[in-house]
Amino acid sequence: MALDRKHALSTGSSRGIGRGIALALAESGVKVAIHYFQNERAAKETLDQVRKRGSDGFLVQADVTRPDQITEMFQKVKAEFGNLDIFVSNARPEASTFFQPPLDITLEQWDTAFDSQAKAFLVGVREALPLMSAGGRIFAITYAQGSRTGGLQPWIGMGSAKAALESLVRYFAVAVAKRGITVNAISPGWTEDSVLNTLPDQVQQLIRDWHNRGWTPMGRLGTPADVGDVATLLCSEKARWITGQVIYADGGASLMNPEVPPEIQIR
Ligand SMILES: NC(=O)c1ccc[n+]([C@@H]2O[C@H](COP(=O)([O-])OP(=O)(O)OC[C@H]3O[C@@H](n4cnc5c(N)ncnc54)[C@H](OP(=O)(O)O)[C@@H]3O)[C@@H](O)[C@H]2O)c1
Repeated sequence: MALDRKHALSTGSSRGIGRGIALALAESGVKVAIHYFQNERAAKETLDQVRKRGSDGFLVQADVTRPDQITEMFQKVKAEFGNLDIFVSNARPEASTFFQPPLDITLEQWDTAFDSQAKAFLVGVREALPLMSAGGRIFAITYAQGSRTGGLQPWIGMGSAKAALESLVRYFAVAVAKRGITVNAISPGWTEDSVLNTLPDQVQQLIRDWHNRGWTPMGRLGTPADVGDVATLLCSEKARWITGQVIYADGGASLMNPEVPPEIQIR
């Protein structure tokens, strides 16, 4: 298989997009460390599915807002795998821990957003690099719409943290370029089987209808498998010259003009 004998760690791979990335990598022969925070059962399910795809891995628990736990996570990766080829920083705390508008967000909620994104990436990449050699791939999973807009007011903490994350991607890309390691951000659009499922049914339906009606030109929401396949594609040796970029994996949603109703844009 294309990525046979490679080792990956994807944070937040117990469920959602992180699981989609783990499974797509496993399909290409990558052995994957399945990271979770509290949901060990879901992580075991991901590992079972990795094994059904003919690959293997192990479970690792950590709170990514705690640098000491990130360090311990990489110690386990070193003990189990010896080296690492792919690091995906994907985990994101539950919305209830940071979702507050600008005038209400507490400093604790702000710190949760930044610690889980920018700081977790800073610490994680510095732990990953000693285990990586030329051909290594590092990804940050971002939400670029949230980092460059201001409409979804309670997203201020996470949107700002994702903006910082995207900036870190560019700085690290330059820092490790000579080692033949690439660093990119992947920005999914709204994705099924993810945080979306935790929203009230009516909100989920509004989001689906909006995208199916045309906001996503491909006419549907993304899936964790869509995003996993993009990450796997970028792990190919043929993607060696792409670094420091924010890659939109959103069926074209980011191409739409927010000032014009989708019905007028798509005919
Ligand atoms: N869903 C979307 O539509 C969408 C769109 C654009 C970007 N994204 C980005 O994609 C990534 C994944 O989103 P998702 O919706 O797939 O996530 P999700 O389904 O809500 O899953 C969150 C994951 O993060 C883990 N996690 C939560 N708090 C943590 C903590 N303090 N420390 C370590 N891990 C923690 C969870 O572990 P447990 O299972 O153990 O709790 C779980 O694996 C995020 O970075 C998000 O911003 C998502």
